[in-house]
Amino acid sequence: MARILIIGHKGQLGQTLMNLPLEHERLGIDLPEHDITLADDIIPTILELKPDVVINPAAFTNVDAAESDPDLTYRVNAHGAGNVARACHRLGIPLIHISTNEVFDGTSDKPYDEWDQPHPISTYARSKLAGENAVRFYHDDVRIVRIAWLFAPGGNNFPAKIVAAADKHGALRVVDDEFGNPTYAPDLAPALFALLERQAPPGIYHLTNSGTCSRYEFALEVLRQSGRGHIPVTPIPHSEWSRPSRPPLRAILANRAAAALGIRLRPWQEAVADWARQSS
Ligand SMILES: NC(=O)c1ccc[n+]([C@@H]2O[C@H](COP(=O)([O-])OP(=O)(O)OC[C@H]3O[C@@H](n4cnc5c(N)ncnc54)[C@H](OP(=O)(O)O)[C@@H]3O)[C@@H](O)[C@H]2O)c1
Repeated sequence: MARILIIGHKGQLGQTLMNLPLEHERLGIDLPEHDITLADDIIPTILELKPDVVINPAAFTNVDAAESDPDLTYRVNAHGAGNVARACHRLGIPLIHISTNEVFDGTSDKPYDEWDQPHPISTYARSKLAGENAVRFYHDDVRIVRIAWLFAPGGNNFPAKIVAAADKHGALRVVDDEFGNPTYAPDLAPALFALLERQAPPGIYHLTNSGTCSRYEFALEVLRQSGRGHIPVTPIPHSEWSRPSRPPLRAILANRAAAALGIRLRPWQEAVADWARQSS
């Protein structure tokens, strides 16, 4: 049995990792008690807890708010991530660091492989790429896991917003020219442990549910599976959906590295069905 430290354990993925029924002991730290941007706090805290492994989903995740506060965004997503890696290096233990499909600009017409060159186009995305670089600068024993469009029961995520907006307005407009891979935290969490169990070598891993969709297709499936298939949904181009940040339009991830170890997540539609059951 290993002692696993989850940083940001109160967040969407953090809670899922904490609650996963596994024999491994789980410890969690998060704001406000511990702040990864404060090296003098977070490094001694991790050293004292003496985990065997650290998983770091902690991040400044409000993509639109990042545009108006790049300083805080970089402090958390780049320097904070680096602090976590420094502690792991001192302990000589593996780190799984969570990153994003948004490190790519989404202009390719094919899915991105783990070895493709990143080119982020928003403040959040640039800070997350800086975080990838920081953890690799400080530590060798790092698996960077890029995910996309994360959702979990009870979380603040796209499916939850779609359902809330449907119930409030009775009709929706949803962008149909932004594509991605939904990632269901209850499917991702065991896959992260599987990486450790199968001794995945250090490097980058793309882990999302199988298949891709547009925001519009994602919304239709969420409505259908949650018993709201009658809600009218109008597809619109992203140019009609004003937001402070610029999302990549086709930052679709190909899972090559984990698939080579036999680790694949089920189709995203099955994950939505599970989400709808858990959320009803
Ligand atoms: N959500 C998505 O669609 C998505 C897509 C691709 C990648 N990702 C990545 O996946 C990871 C997990 O996402 P999520 O949706 O589970 O995030 P989340 O729900 O926002 O959870 C992140 C957790 O980190 C904490 N945190 C923020 N700043 C911190 C700091 N300075 N020190 C310590 N903890 C801090 C947050 O606390 P507060 O809530 O108090 O701020 C929160 O509990 C993130 O690395 C994110 O970049 C997410």
